[in-house]
Amino acid sequence: MCGIVGYVGAKQVVPILFDGLKLLEYRGYDSAGIAVLDGEGISRCRRAGKVRDLEQDLRSLPPAATIGIGHTRWATHGKPTNENAHPQVDCHGKIAVVHNGIIENYMPLREQLMADGHVFSSETDTEVLAHLVESLLDGDLLEAVRKAVARAEGAFAVAILSSDTPDRIVVARRGSPLVIGQAEGETYVASDIPALLGRASSVQFLGDDELAELTADGFRVIDFHGNEVRRPSRSVSADPVSIQKGGYKHFMLKEIHEQARAVGETLREKIDASVQTVRLPSLDNAIPEFDHIYLVSCGTAFHASLAAEYLWEQILPVPIQAIIASEFRLRSPALSPRTLVVAVSQSGETIDTLMAVRRAKDGGACVIALVNNEQSAIDRESDAAVYMRAGIEIGVAASKTFTAQISALGVLGLYLAARRGTLSASDVEQEVGRLALLPGRITECLQQEESIIQIAERMHHAHDVLFLARGVMFPIALEGALKLKEISYIHAEGYPAGEMKHGPIALIDEGTPVVFLLSDGLAYDKVLANMEEVKARNGHVIAITDTPDAPAVLKLADDIIPVPASEGISRPILFALPLQLLAYHTAIWRGTDVDQPRNLAKTVTVE
Ligand code: G6P
Repeated sequence: MCGIVGYVGAKQVVPILFDGLKLLEYRGYDSAGIAVLDGEGISRCRRAGKVRDLEQDLRSLPPAATIGIGHTRWATHGKPTNENAHPQVDCHGKIAVVHNGIIENYMPLREQLMADGHVFSSETDTEVLAHLVESLLDGDLLEAVRKAVARAEGAFAVAILSSDTPDRIVVARRGSPLVIGQAEGETYVASDIPALLGRASSVQFLGDDELAELTADGFRVIDFHGNEVRRPSRSVSADPVSIQKGGYKHFMLKEIHEQARAVGETLREKIDASVQTVRLPSLDNAIPEFDHIYLVSCGTAFHASLAAEYLWEQILPVPIQAIIASEFRLRSPALSPRTLVVAVSQSGETIDTLMAVRRAKDGGACVIALVNNEQSAIDRESDAAVYMRAGIEIGVAASKTFTAQISALGVLGLYLAARRGTLSASDVEQEVGRLALLPGRITECLQQEESIIQIAERMHHAHDVLFLARGVMFPIALEGALKLKEISYIHAEGYPAGEMKHGPIALIDEGTPVVFLLSDGLAYDKVLANMEEVKARNGHVIAITDTPDAPAVLKLADDIIPVPASEGISRPILFALPLQLLAYHTAIWRGTDVDQPRNLAKTVTVE
């Protein structure tokens, strides 16, 4: 959601910013722009639409400029027009600002600035920052920005240029992520690491309520009170190849096929297959005695959390509840030092999940972050962390991070239960044995792709698709429906199969596709009965099942997608895979933009 890039060094800045913006496209946006600074002052170019639409106009920027900022905007205040695209400037075009997030008190600030004579040219909340800095600037850009952001409410990340100080960029953060990168004689800033891969050799995440002044020689960090902040940078470990499509048509397809590795890597450090046990040393001294657990998360991460709720309640004798993070704060969760809260987030930056973490901590709970991004805000603000090792995920619609989340959550559940003594060593051994085989099973399962392409072709004209399942498969049905609606724009609903008669059955008409997740031993006969009911109404039954040859399945299903038989943590993971492929190929038949679906953002940093 919105992307910021910035560069100061000796190289021509325009191509660097343009490449950086292309690498941040996955975050979701609807306009883009760049401002650069040279001896003539600030020049900018911006427009509604895609980054590639900007390329022609970039020729109007001074090619020799070596300092600048760029932005992809996901519209919040004001439509995605050329005028509202960032960078925004002050009255005299001497200050340029790019901004992620929302300045919640922009209205009173704008009114005050207008009363003081400032002239606004956009509908954005961002523009108030340009005028505010203009009104506060007295030679020291860092100090003016510090005073300006201290007056702003909301969550934001900003990067600011001033033609009065042409050798520096000032950045600030509250809530929205910013990472500073360095190489010899050049300094970068971006919303996320992919924009820095192959360029910066070391990176450092800016903390909340911190500012930094970037020059070609390095950077200096202070907090919003003006105190110096020192923390070590770390070297960049990800490979630039990880942000290339590697021969696949889309990042999402590549990431679907990376799942054996993503899950394998996630499990590798957490299970010891030789002695069949689990290990999460980071938690050994971090977790108190607890009497209930909340899992908080959004989107796909919520579905993984819900799957964990089902898995954990079989082995942990305490109440467990997965709650959508944005609801968590509105409710009255029972929080005490005996509450364990697990915050699940791929990015580690989702604002609603971060706010739920803060709410939990205020209530005295112990918070464990389960994230894919080390050093992210949720990681930093939690008491302890468990990391997924899925690698960078570029496709907006999560795929490999979903299965990595369930894997990591599964192991976390085993760890908690073993520690509490509610799961025997032999039960742990059995589950670890199954997990060791999981990457191979994932590869086997993904081999169904050809037949799924045919099923997707039949499905892609549908108006509504239902996904029905029971037990731990219900969260997977929710995820199947979410994937389909996110990337194909077909209306889809996930429901517990037992609820079908309480509403969704009204949607079933001649040929309505209904996807069933049918697994041996999981309310099997009841799900079969629901299939009968759909069949009786001429619905089109698609059975994803580990019993593909069962006579009842052969009789009832119009399409069958086999899944390798498994139990425990592995089972929901394997059933998720065909659903991802089904959504992907349906979207391909419909010709939608799979990696950047309309209106969606990869990392949602506004509430
Ligand atoms: C956005 C993304 C989803 C993701 C959700 C939560 O909506 O489009 O794919 O599941 O945010 O993100 P998180 O980074 O917290 O897992």
